[in-house]
Amino acid sequence: MMEVNMYVALLLSFVSFVTISLFGMVYKHLSHFRGNNLPPGRFGLPFIGETLHFLRSGWNGHPEKFIFDRMSAYSPRVFKTSILAEPTAVFCGALGNKFLFSNENKLVTAWWPDSVNKVFPSSLQTSSKEEAKKMRKMLPNFFKPEALQRYIGMMDEIAHRHFTTSWENKDEVVVFPLAKRFTFWLACRVFVSVQDPDHVAKFADPFNDIASGIFSIPIDLPGTPLNKAKHASNFIRKELRAIIKQRKLDLAEGRASATQDILSHMLLATDEDGKHMNEMDIADKILGLLIGGHDTASAACTFIVKYLADLPQVYEGVYKEQMEIAKSKAPGELLNWDDIQKMRYSWNVACEVLRLAPPLQGAFREALNDFIFNGFSIPKGWKIYWSTHSTHRSPEYFPEPEKFDPSRFDGNGPAPYTFVPFGGGPRMCPGKEYARLEILVFMHNLVKRFKWESLIPDEKIVVDPMPMPAKGLPVRLFPHKA
Ligand code: HEM
Repeated sequence: MMEVNMYVALLLSFVSFVTISLFGMVYKHLSHFRGNNLPPGRFGLPFIGETLHFLRSGWNGHPEKFIFDRMSAYSPRVFKTSILAEPTAVFCGALGNKFLFSNENKLVTAWWPDSVNKVFPSSLQTSSKEEAKKMRKMLPNFFKPEALQRYIGMMDEIAHRHFTTSWENKDEVVVFPLAKRFTFWLACRVFVSVQDPDHVAKFADPFNDIASGIFSIPIDLPGTPLNKAKHASNFIRKELRAIIKQRKLDLAEGRASATQDILSHMLLATDEDGKHMNEMDIADKILGLLIGGHDTASAACTFIVKYLADLPQVYEGVYKEQMEIAKSKAPGELLNWDDIQKMRYSWNVACEVLRLAPPLQGAFREALNDFIFNGFSIPKGWKIYWSTHSTHRSPEYFPEPEKFDPSRFDGNGPAPYTFVPFGGGPRMCPGKEYARLEILVFMHNLVKRFKWESLIPDEKIVVDPMPMPAKGLPVRLFPHKA
């Protein structure tokens, strides 16, 4: 009898513990959402908030709708909502972008959903905060135009091999998977000198698992997308560490060169105290770069193919520019920095594609302290979202925003903080210049070989979280006569 009483007592105390904890969690969750003078807007359902509305507008191909509906209902500068169970303020327009990009690490800091942090135990977990800061400072060195110039010939060579094996002698192709194959092969070559197609393929599958797990529901059980992504990221890290170890030996024994790829550059670089980056940090950084550049640049290439199919006059302009460059080269001579500088119109076209179909829709920040924006209070801990669409699709900054007009980028181009496919401020995409080069090399190799037409007119676009044509953009190819 005494035993039964003890069990009942234990059970009761367990139940009360769980109930109190749950109440505590709910109270903490709800108190997060309270405050005076908050921006206008609504939080939607408890916990789920407006997450489904946010995601659904992307699945329907119009992520801008979530933003514009609320900008017109509440305020064109800032509104509140709840996304991923977090109270969130969405900052809109050029002033919102300027405020966030200028206040990085002062009023706001980068924030990623839980699933992202689980797939990428960031360098903060493998090294101290100070070291992570130093790494962030060193990263742009590897990706500035001067450092990337030497890889242009290499990019052209990979593009040549890619188009020969995957596009030539085919009547029809599906563009999105091919664009992914191209950007991934290129990244493997330029970052770590992996270029044997079999070795690249060994990496490619785990990468697809990572991409689908990053923005998934954060449930980590065997078989869930998040769990698969974690395994894939551990597998790639291990592979990368093996490559790094081998490279260190090769560099020491003169079998590898200091400039052959980004990895050699990272291994040999020192910070202001003369210290080298450690192996784990380098593996994490390269993984981050491979992921950052994986689906973004391939989405951009895919939409360039789509817009060029839909707009013959724009195609003609790009073709003319690229053929002038192609004709100026000796047979077999690879593209170089001067050639890239001549691709002005092609880059304007690519920018107009990035304006209308930005690969990343926006990004999150977290408020480091309470602060005021546009007369409203933003409480400490709130998430803040900036969205490319609030400026890219606004007639205030881009007259007739739906019209495809590459001349918007002539001269000084759009006003500051309005064209933001790569973000801005200290968190601006470190791969911006690399992406520019790979996109231009892709355009060159594509238009000099073919003209094409879409096989599915008005193919549906799905944004999840990157935009892509629902069927991957099948096209019919028309090779130019030799
Ligand atoms: C057209 C292609 C690309 C677009 C549109 C793009 C866009 C962006 C954007 C909007 C951000 C977030 C900025 C923010 O948090 O405010 C970002 C971050 C990042 N991107 Fe890109 N990106 C592209 C290609 C690349 C490539 C090729 C690489 C690698 C070489 C790369 C590596 C990264 C990394 C590592 C970050 C995180 C930076 C940080 O947190 O400080 N991206 N990118």
